[in-house]
Amino acid sequence: MTPGVRPLVAGNWKMNGMRGSLHEASAIAGQYDWSLRRAIDLLICPPATLIAPISRQSIGSGLLTGGQDCHAAASGAHTGDLSAEMIADAGGSFVIVGHSERRADHKETDAMVRAKAEAARRARLVAIVCVGETQAEREAGKTLAVVRKQLKGSIPEGMNAATLVVAYEPVWAIGSGLTPTAADVAEVHAAIRADLKKLVGKEEGAKVRILYGGSVKPSNAAELMAVENVDGALVGGASLKAADFMGIVAVYRK
Ligand code: 13P
Repeated sequence: MTPGVRPLVAGNWKMNGMRGSLHEASAIAGQYDWSLRRAIDLLICPPATLIAPISRQSIGSGLLTGGQDCHAAASGAHTGDLSAEMIADAGGSFVIVGHSERRADHKETDAMVRAKAEAARRARLVAIVCVGETQAEREAGKTLAVVRKQLKGSIPEGMNAATLVVAYEPVWAIGSGLTPTAADVAEVHAAIRADLKKLVGKEEGAKVRILYGGSVKPSNAAELMAVENVDGALVGGASLKAADFMGIVAVYRK
């Protein structure tokens, strides 16, 4: 946690969820009561087909929605792509960019991620910029170098705490059930915080939310969320079921 920074707990549904999943989203919205709303921001990034229906059914609940990726351009001949403006039009207010699955599956570079983060700002969406090392990079002792390079290359100039969130997701921790130790998370988040102060300015860099992602579940959330400079979570598998997701969120009730 960072004193004075409002935590964000975000669910990344990835390519999971059909119309039947709307009831999970509505259960999540239903449990986002006033005491939680006072404490945290709560976000679901469902598949693009569900952004509009979840946004619509969540009106008044405070539950936020967002996209999992966007194209850098606002419109044009880009078959199959989705612009940041379209996510905003569907009711979204955030967009994840540079997730390791996009970097791997679609060969996204830091420069491409940066352009997408710029597109997010243009569309008045908050960009959640993801960074994280692979297992081989960690074993080679390159974690901080990799994360810092991705951060520097992926964040546009002039971002601030209202337009940017950073998510640290070690690639080897995603979907594996493995997590770094609290000390390892603290080390990486401290490095991200220090670099953010240089990249977006001291004052804004101190307030940008830095999420941890990778095998977050109800049983480890309290320990991970208590780490210094961990301002929330980006949750994959455990965000698909309201009971699991709200079990993570429950950490902030205390
Ligand atoms: P898991 O929580 O399933 O490990 O996924 C993390 C993730 O990639 C969120 O973006």
